[in-house]
Amino acid sequence: MLSAILLSATVLAVSIIDPARATPISTSTNQTLAWTNCTSVPDGPYPQHFRCAKLEVPLYYENPASDKIKLTLVKIPATNTAKRIGTWIFQEGGPGTSTAHDLPSIDGTEGFRELQTYFDVLAVDPRGVGVNFPVCFSPELLTSGARGKFRNYPKTEGEWKATLEYWGEVGEDCLNRTGPIFHTLSSATAARDLESARVALGEGGINYYGLSWGIQRGQMYAQYYPKNIRTMVLDGVVDHSIQMADFSAAQQIGHGFSAANFFNWASTNSSSALYGQDAAKIMDDLVAKADQTPIPVPNVNTTTTFPNVTGEDIRQAFLDGFWHEYNWPAVATWIAESAQGNVTGFAMPVFTETSLNSPAIACSDWLTNETYAQFPDRERMAASFSSGNFEGGTGMRAWATYCSKWPIPVVNPPARSEIANTSAPILLVNALWDPATPYDFAVNIQRQIPGSVLLTRKGNGHGSLFPWGGEAGDAMSQYFVSGKPPPAGTVVYS
Ligand SMILES: *[C@@H]1O[C@H](CO)[C@@H](O)[C@H](O)[C@H]1NC(C)=O
Ligand SMILES: *[C@@H]1O[C@H](CO)[C@@H](O)[C@H](O)[C@H]1NC(C)=O
Ligand SMILES: *[C@@H]1O[C@H](CO)[C@@H](O)[C@H](O)[C@H]1NC(C)=O
Ligand SMILES: *[C@@H]1O[C@H](CO)[C@@H](O)[C@H](O)[C@H]1NC(C)=O
Ligand SMILES: *[C@@H]1O[C@H](CO)[C@@H](O)[C@H](O)[C@H]1NC(C)=O
Ligand SMILES: *[C@@H]1O[C@H](CO)[C@@H](O)[C@H](O)[C@H]1NC(C)=O
Ligand SMILES: *[C@@H]1O[C@H](CO)[C@@H](O)[C@H](O)[C@H]1NC(C)=O
Ligand SMILES: *[C@@H]1O[C@H](CO)[C@@H](O)[C@H](O)[C@H]1NC(C)=O
Ligand SMILES: *[C@@H]1O[C@H](CO)[C@@H](O)[C@H](O)[C@H]1NC(C)=O
Repeated sequence: MLSAILLSATVLAVSIIDPARATPISTSTNQTLAWTNCTSVPDGPYPQHFRCAKLEVPLYYENPASDKIKLTLVKIPATNTAKRIGTWIFQEGGPGTSTAHDLPSIDGTEGFRELQTYFDVLAVDPRGVGVNFPVCFSPELLTSGARGKFRNYPKTEGEWKATLEYWGEVGEDCLNRTGPIFHTLSSATAARDLESARVALGEGGINYYGLSWGIQRGQMYAQYYPKNIRTMVLDGVVDHSIQMADFSAAQQIGHGFSAANFFNWASTNSSSALYGQDAAKIMDDLVAKADQTPIPVPNVNTTTTFPNVTGEDIRQAFLDGFWHEYNWPAVATWIAESAQGNVTGFAMPVFTETSLNSPAIACSDWLTNETYAQFPDRERMAASFSSGNFEGGTGMRAWATYCSKWPIPVVNPPARSEIANTSAPILLVNALWDPATPYDFAVNIQRQIPGSVLLTRKGNGHGSLFPWGGEAGDAMSQYFVSGKPPPAGTVVYS
C-alpha cells in the first residue's frame, strides 16, 4: 500500500507558525442584514422565496480601516419555523465553484428537504467566486493557451518552462483586471468573512458543511474561532499540511485507483456503453489519436464550444466527469461515442472572462517551487498508476505549474492544522477511493484535529453528500440536527 510513502512525507513536515495566520482578528461590526428579494444578484433571477443581503467587510482584515466591500449572501429560509435550529452554511470546492449558483438546483431535492426544515441554507461565495467579485481573465489569453501555449502534461523541459511562463502572464493579466480583491482570495480571508457573516446573523455557533476546497475554509475557521462551532462537516478532505508536489503525487495515486475501478466497472457492468470491451484500452487509443491530431466535434457551435478536442481536453474532461460515481454511465457513453468519431462528450466550452478562477484561489493557498528535476519523478510515478496514454490526469498536477510564477506571494501557505479545543467535534468524511482527495489525506487531518471523527464511505467518488440519500448523507444530516457525530471508526457503504 502506497499510503506509507505519503504518510512518511507528511510526518516530516515541520509546522511553520505564521503569527498573522494564528491570530484571530475581530470581525464584529454590529451590522444588521437587510434580507430582500434576490433581484440584483448576478446570474439571477433566483426563485421568489430566496433571500439576499449585503454583508459589509473590510477589504483587508489585517487593516480594519481599509476600504469596505459588500459581499452578497444568498439564503433559502427554513421551511418549518417551529423546528428551525439555525443557519447551515454550504461551501463548495473547486476552488472556484459558486455555491450561490448551485443553490437553486439543490433546493427542495429529495433528502435535502428534511435538512431544510431545520435550517436556513446560506451560500457565502468566497471572494473571487460566483456572486462575490469573480476574478477576471482574458478569454483570448486562455484560448491561445489551451491551444498550444501551455501543456498540462509537459514532455520536455522547454514545454515545462513555457507552461510556467504562460501561467505567470495569465496571473499578471488577471491581477490587472481584478484589482485589489486579487490579494484577498485565500481560505484564511474566506474564514474571516464567514465569521463576519455568523456575527451579522446574530445566532449561535456556525453550522458548516464544506466540500473539497471548502474544507480549507472550514479548517481555517476552526483554527481562528474554535469556540464558535455548533456543527462542522469537512467532506472530501484536502490536506493543506503537505506541499503541492506531495499533494499532486498523492492525488495521482488516488486517481489511478479510482480510474482502475471505473474502467473495471465500464468493462463488466451491463449498463455501461463499453460492456464486454477493454474500456481502458479504448480510452488509451482515443487519447493517443487526439494527441496526434485534434478530433473535430460534429455539429459544433463555435460560439460556445471549441471546434475540436485534443488529448489534453479528453484527459481533463474525463477527470471532471468521473470524479462522481453517478456520472460513470455518462462518461462510459462519451468514450464509446468518441471511439466512433462523436467526441461531443469531451468537447471543451470556450472561455469567458470568469470561467477559470481556480488558479487565483489555489495559488493563494499553496506555493509551488517544484524544480524541473523533481517533475519527471512525479510524472513517472503517475504513469505507473494509470494505463498508457492516460497519464493519471489530476487537477493538482496542473496547479503545480500554475502557481510557480504567480504574480503575488502565497498568502496562506500549507501548514499543519493548529485547531484545538473546538466547541463541538468536527466530522470528517471521505470515500476510500476518492480520486481527488485520497483517503490518506482524511486520516492525516483527523490526526491533526483533536476530538474530530472520521466517517469512512467504502466507495468511489469525491464527496459523500450529493446526490443525497446514501448512508453517509443520513449520518451527516443526523449530526447537523443532533450535534452528535457517529462513533469513531464508522464505515458506511453508500
Ligand atoms: C458593537 O456593539 C458593542 C456593544 O454595543 C460595542 O461595544 C462595540 O464597540 C460595537 N462594535 C463595533 C465594531 O461597532
Ligand atoms: C419579493 O418577494 C415577495 C414574496 O416572494 C413578493 O411578494 C414580491 O412581489 C417580491 N418583490 C419584488 C420586487 O420582486
Ligand atoms: C499589468 O499592468 C502592469 C502595470 O500597468 C503592466 O506593466 C503589465 O504589462 C500588465 N500585465 C499584463 C499581462 O497585462
Ligand atoms: C451496474 O452499474 C449501475 C450504475 O452504476 C449500478 O446501479 C448497478 O448496481 C451495477 N450492477 C452491478 C451488478 O454491479
Ligand atoms: C482545431 O481547432 C483550432 C481552433 O481552436 C484550429 O485552429 C485547428 O486548425 C483545428 N485543428 C484541426 C485538426 O481540426
Ligand atoms: C450558438 O450559441 C450561441 C450562444 O448560446 C447562440 O446565441 C447561437 O444561436 C448558437 N448558434 C446556433 C447556430 O445554434
Ligand atoms: C454525440 O455524443 C453526445 C454526447 O454523448 C450525444 O449527446 C449525442 O447524441 C451524440 N450524437 C450522435 C449523433 O450520436
Ligand atoms: C519548497 O518550499 C518548501 C517549503 O518552504 C521547502 O521545504 C522546500 O525545500 C522548497 N523546495 C525547493 C526545491 O526549493
Ligand atoms: C486547549 O485546552 C487545553 C486544556 O484546557 C489547554 O492546555 C491548551 O492550551 C488549549 N489549547 C489551545 C491551542 O488553546
